[in-house]
Amino acid sequence: MKIARFSRVGFILAAAGSAVGLGNIWKFPYITGEYGGGAFVLVYLITVLTIGFSIMIAEMLIGYLGRMDAARSFEKLAPKNAKTWRLAGMMGIWAGILIMTFYSVVIGWILHYIVVAFSTLPSCVKEAEVAFNTLLHEDIMTQIFYHTLSFLFISAILVRGIKAGIEKLNLILMPLLFIIVGGMFLYALTLDGFAQAWHFMFSPDWSKLSSEAFVVAVGHAFFTLSLGMGAILTYSASLPKEVNLVQSSLIVVALDTIIALLAGLMLFTFLYQYGAEPSKGPGLVFISLPATFYAMGTLGNIFAILFFFALAFAGLTSAVSLTEPMVQYLIDKYSITRLKAVMIAGGFFYLVGIVALASNSSSFSQMLTFGSKNFFNWVDYITAAFMLPFGGLLMAIFIGYKIPKEQVFAVLGKNLGRGFEFWYFILRYIAPIALIIVMLNLLGVIKF
Ligand code: PHE
Repeated sequence: MKIARFSRVGFILAAAGSAVGLGNIWKFPYITGEYGGGAFVLVYLITVLTIGFSIMIAEMLIGYLGRMDAARSFEKLAPKNAKTWRLAGMMGIWAGILIMTFYSVVIGWILHYIVVAFSTLPSCVKEAEVAFNTLLHEDIMTQIFYHTLSFLFISAILVRGIKAGIEKLNLILMPLLFIIVGGMFLYALTLDGFAQAWHFMFSPDWSKLSSEAFVVAVGHAFFTLSLGMGAILTYSASLPKEVNLVQSSLIVVALDTIIALLAGLMLFTFLYQYGAEPSKGPGLVFISLPATFYAMGTLGNIFAILFFFALAFAGLTSAVSLTEPMVQYLIDKYSITRLKAVMIAGGFFYLVGIVALASNSSSFSQMLTFGSKNFFNWVDYITAAFMLPFGGLLMAIFIGYKIPKEQVFAVLGKNLGRGFEFWYFILRYIAPIALIIVMLNLLGVIKF
């Protein structure tokens, strides 16, 4: 089927829109807090800039050469072992939809907080904590309401397709997001708390780097760059022919990293400045931050509104990229209309999302908790810590060993220049070894 193509800028903004998401503004700060700051940030940064960047190029290349949905691109490029490689694509497609089951719920919380920001913010951390916990543990209906809004919005964009839906959404929302985060960061720069925030994020204390922290940092590098599941691959299948994949990857990685660091610094500055104890866990931006905005007075209200809008923008542009691989797959595979495909893919994450949000509630949590985590946290953990790095490993092997070197060089040689061999080396050796260590560590085979 003929698919509409992205424009060059449209592609870069869409890929950056996919990468810059809740991972950067919601998850990165709280896991940085949870895993002790500097050392964690450093592992994350090193992974992003070496393995992450290399695999980003590889994933784009698979989509660019394959020109199909994630599963069929693998099949087409490896006709001899089509069945096996297809599984790599399928795993990614499912990872996206699974991530969506909690991602859409969190977007729902954000929409709720936009409404809160327009009315009265909680006046202290205690009050904010009660409000958030009530939403999370007691108020299933409100969560379902906003999760439904999120689902409807995402579906409405996806139904319009690559050009009129996804590209347009990103062309509008991404610049707004950059302006808001950039502006708030500049304000944070003028506050005394900035020095403390800087220290917290950039002074590594290696004793705090547990082996779980290591796995989470590497996993997060994949999550934040949208790697290993076919989101970038699926977008790249609609690239114009004459695009520079290396430059595009570089821009996406840079934007993603910059936004994560700016958001983290800004958030911790506000928290330190206004003395709010940084609450640990997913509640950070929903508990400590609203109380901090309250302490800032009227400016705080404006900031709260802008901040939650920016967070919603970041979330929505990523959400469409998490769902699109499944949508594209269903269209290619069953020759159904886009509308039908969106209803199936969206319907799945919508319904399972309700299970995910119920697993946080006091009424159902017991039923939906398995071992150390409830359903919501399991999905987050399994996708980010295992499925994405594993998908990334398969992509590295695919481009590094399966596709003939000449074919890879023909596309990337000109743009990578002398860096080609270096990149190829990382892809063939460094990335697989590092990722296998992470997998073994995750499975408990090795501990350090
Ligand atoms: N990168 C997105 C974020 O940081 C999440 C995402 C993961 C999107 C994988 C697409 C694919 O929130």
